[in-house]
Amino acid sequence: MTLPKAVKIVEVGPRDGLQNESAFVASSIKIELIERLATAGCRHIEATSFVSPRKIPQLADAAEVMRAIRRAPEVTYSALTPNLKGFEAAMDAGANEIAVFAAASETFSRKNINCSTEESLTRFEPVLDAAKRAGVRARAYVSCALGCPYEGEIAPAAVTRVAERLFNQGCYEISLGDTIGVGTPLAAKRMIEAVAEKIPLENLAGHFHDTYGMAAANVWAALEMGMAVFDSSVGGLGGCPYAPGAAGNLATEDLAWLMQGSGVETGLDLPKLVDCANWISGVLGREAVSRVARALKKL
Ligand code: HMG
Ligand code: MG
Repeated sequence: MTLPKAVKIVEVGPRDGLQNESAFVASSIKIELIERLATAGCRHIEATSFVSPRKIPQLADAAEVMRAIRRAPEVTYSALTPNLKGFEAAMDAGANEIAVFAAASETFSRKNINCSTEESLTRFEPVLDAAKRAGVRARAYVSCALGCPYEGEIAPAAVTRVAERLFNQGCYEISLGDTIGVGTPLAAKRMIEAVAEKIPLENLAGHFHDTYGMAAANVWAALEMGMAVFDSSVGGLGGCPYAPGAAGNLATEDLAWLMQGSGVETGLDLPKLVDCANWISGVLGREAVSRVARALKKL
């Protein structure tokens, strides 16, 4: 078995994590979180999203946060931008990468972004054109890649169709989102195999939520196939307000532990990451959900 030598980790805690908090997290905490993550070696940080503040009030301070971060030159600070309004605001605030997000489930698409998947792809066209003109790289998500909170099972062919469209529209990386964390390794493998028939594996990423504790197992299945980009969230923060019951992403420190034990480079500093996970969990008034963060804290 040959594993990739190194993986790219996209830290989504400040966005996917904090979007799901019931109480508004102060902008100063968000900024400190992003800065601590950079210090812990994160090189790709999804910092916030420029979406409707009515839909996601938790990130209504996107511009303020994006503007205030003390930047590390080697770090990419990205943001979700569902439309041109969001794209322009993200550019004004200094985002250096954007991400659009579509769903393999029609019902989820309507609940999350108030339009069909087809309409969302049309809406992304001017965003992706503008990003190209501005020389800004665009990533894309396909949500509900392993199941939908409203429709249940989702066929790999449905995921492939949406992923292929986004790739052909110019997105350089397609993150396959197990939004509600129902995936198991074999299902993850079959879904990735189907998508990889149309899109090179090096342009695909795994975004596994950990609702049933399967996220690390899913990463392992994908890693064995040669996938080398994974999204994760420090402290296991997160979920999606439009995906009832979904837990956070795979904790970044769990992912780092898994990779460290497998001899795969991440560039992350595990002790600093664990400190960051325990710090943000404490600020949010709880213990880190990640066992790695809890176990290493006691050492
Ligand atoms: P809409 O209501 O259809 O659009 O929303 P609209 O254009 O009619 O706008 C409605 C209002 O929102 C207007 O304000 C706009 O100005 C405002 P009003 O005039 O009523 O006061 N608005 C905006 N404000 C700020 N920034 C913007 C923006 N756009 C419109 N960019 C829209 C459509 C997509 C905007 C909305 O449904 C929305 O913002 N949805 C966001 C949902 C979201 O962020 N969900 C969580 C992220 S997805 C996720 O977590 C999954 C992922 O992690 C992968 C996985 O796990 O699978 C990525
Ligand atoms: Mg997510």
